[in-house]
Amino acid sequence: MQEKIKKIQKEIEAFSAKSLEELDNFRIKYLSKKGLLTGLFDDFKTVAQEERKEIGKLLNELKNSAQEKINDLKKKFEDLQHSGKSDADLTLPANFIETGSRHPLSITRSGIVEIFSRIGFTVSEGPEIEDDWHNFSALNFAEEHPARDMQDTFFIQKSPDIALRTHTSSVQVRVMETEKPPIRKIFPGRVYRNEAISSRAHCFFHQVEGLYIDKDVSFADLRQVLLYFAKEMFGEETKIRLRPSYFPFTEPSAEMDILCFLCGGKGCPFCKHTGWVEILGCGMVDPQVLENCKIDSKVYSGYAFGMGIERITNLKYRVKDIRLFSENDIRFLKQFGSVI
Ligand code: PHE
Repeated sequence: MQEKIKKIQKEIEAFSAKSLEELDNFRIKYLSKKGLLTGLFDDFKTVAQEERKEIGKLLNELKNSAQEKINDLKKKFEDLQHSGKSDADLTLPANFIETGSRHPLSITRSGIVEIFSRIGFTVSEGPEIEDDWHNFSALNFAEEHPARDMQDTFFIQKSPDIALRTHTSSVQVRVMETEKPPIRKIFPGRVYRNEAISSRAHCFFHQVEGLYIDKDVSFADLRQVLLYFAKEMFGEETKIRLRPSYFPFTEPSAEMDILCFLCGGKGCPFCKHTGWVEILGCGMVDPQVLENCKIDSKVYSGYAFGMGIERITNLKYRVKDIRLFSENDIRFLKQFGSVI
């Protein structure tokens, strides 16, 4: 039996194939159910006890080298095909490559950036991991403000406090500290809040905030810029209203709503029967915030605003569940064209 095994081993070592068909014949001859090796393994049952160890080893080696031979030759054929040197049919159509589409949040983000860039706003970005000063203190958040709570903010480190930024207002501070007015900028980016995840809230989302600082900037300027934005984003017929609100870093502060475009203001489930849909927060930059950033509040004034990209996208495309944006389900993602 040993002789037989050695002979086959030599045959296998010497084998080479010119085509995949030849290679397949080789596999059938040696490794198939009726192949030579299967026959040898059957014979092995009759081998005397004292020879078993030795012959078993040889048989296994034989089987491995046949399998290795097949793998090597197969790889050689594949490589040849990839390098175009085979006789493959080059007139066949190429494999179909599916092109992706832009993420809906990216589409909205660049839409917002584009609208503001037409009236002179440029983009600045900042770090997602922030210190207390840029995220809270410079923006007048009181020491005991609930946003500083562990339940609301993801802290990376305590005293000195380092956290995942809760808004991109932190970039406003960075820009005010380093640039001289006039400043006319928008700040897109990802922000984090420690919230229970539901269809309406997530532990991270995206914002675009804006800042304009110059001499004699008024609330009327703010309103007009926001009206322009709302019309560009949601259509010429869009109506807005400003409601008084509160933010630590703006005074006065307001929330902007647009007239519900589903019911035209009559009231429906979409606008919770109020006729209006909330879009963003805004206000005049608090003089103390300007001073915190070493800008003379007697000379300069400014406005700021901030909106959630998810919220604008939900309104524009009627997406009802915010979780869809981060689930990476292509059935959802491919419904958005690559326009804008
Ligand atoms: N930073 C506020 C928020 O995240 C939004 C805002 C920005 C409000 C600028 C007013 C002015 O909710």
